[in-house]
Amino acid sequence: MNNVLGIDVGGSGIKGAPVDLEVGDFAEPRLRIPTPQKSSPKNVAAVIKEIIEHFSDSIGDSPVGVSFPAPSRHGVIRFIANLDQGWAGLNAEDYLSDKLGHAVTMVNDADAAGLGEVHYGAAKGVPGVVILTTLGTGIGTAILNDGILLPNTEIGHLEIDGYDAEKRAASSVKDKKHMSYKDWATKRLQRYYEVVEMLFSPDLFVVGGGVSKDHAKFFKYLNLETPIVPATLFNRAGIIGAAWQANWRIEHPDSVNRDTARETAEKAIRAAGGED
Ligand code: BGC
Repeated sequence: MNNVLGIDVGGSGIKGAPVDLEVGDFAEPRLRIPTPQKSSPKNVAAVIKEIIEHFSDSIGDSPVGVSFPAPSRHGVIRFIANLDQGWAGLNAEDYLSDKLGHAVTMVNDADAAGLGEVHYGAAKGVPGVVILTTLGTGIGTAILNDGILLPNTEIGHLEIDGYDAEKRAASSVKDKKHMSYKDWATKRLQRYYEVVEMLFSPDLFVVGGGVSKDHAKFFKYLNLETPIVPATLFNRAGIIGAAWQANWRIEHPDSVNRDTARETAEKAIRAAGGED
C-alpha cells in the first residue's frame, strides 16, 4: 500500500506527513509551514500544495486527508470559529481536490484525532462511549461508540453557565489569562467535563491537543466519575486520523451519497400524507 498523506491545518501551523497505515505512524518526518496570516482557502491551499510537492516521491497519487478546525459535512465547511471566514459554506473537498489534483477528504480536526486514537492509540479496543477532547485554541470533540465515530459533534461549543464552553476552558484561555494548571483545572475544566459527563455518560475521556503532554500537571485536580487518559499519539493523531479516513473513503467509494438522506426524507413525507 502507498503511504497516504495526512495534513493538519491549525491556527499557527500547517503540518503534513505521509502515513504508513499498516503501523499507524509517519513514514517520514513531518513538514510544518506557518499558517498564512490570512488563512483563506486560497492561501491554505498553496501551503498544502507545497507540502504535497515536498513528499511527492513517497505519496504518488495517494488521496490526501485534511484535518481541519471546523465541522465538515461531506466536505462542506458549515461554520468556522478560529480561521478565515472565507471557508464557511465552501465545499472544501471539491475546492482542494481541484486545486491540488489529489482526492481530498476533509475531516474535523478532533474527529481526525479520535480516528487516530481509536485505530492506533489510547481508545483502541475500548468498548462503549469514548469522548476525545482536544484542548488548544478551542475545544474540539470526537464521540465514538464501540469504535464508530459520530462526526462533527462540536460540544466544545456547549453553552455552559452562559458562555461558549471553549471561551472559558480551552488551553488558549489558560495561557492568555496566565492561569496556573490548578486554577484552570478546578475553575474551568472541572465544570466543562462534569457537564459533558452528565449529558453523555461516557466510559472514557481521552484528552488531546498540545497541552495533553502536561497531563500530569492537571488531571490530578479533576474530580470525575469517568476515567480520563491522555491521547497517546499526541500531536500526530490528527495527521494519522485524516490519512486513515482518506484511505477509508477510497476503499468505500459509495459511502457518501449526499442525496440519499434528502430523498429518503421526501419519500417519508409523501408516504405520511396529511392535510394542510
Ligand atoms: C471548532 C471545532 C474544532 C475545535 C478545535 C472549535 O472552535 O468549532 O470544529 O474541532 O475548535 O480546533
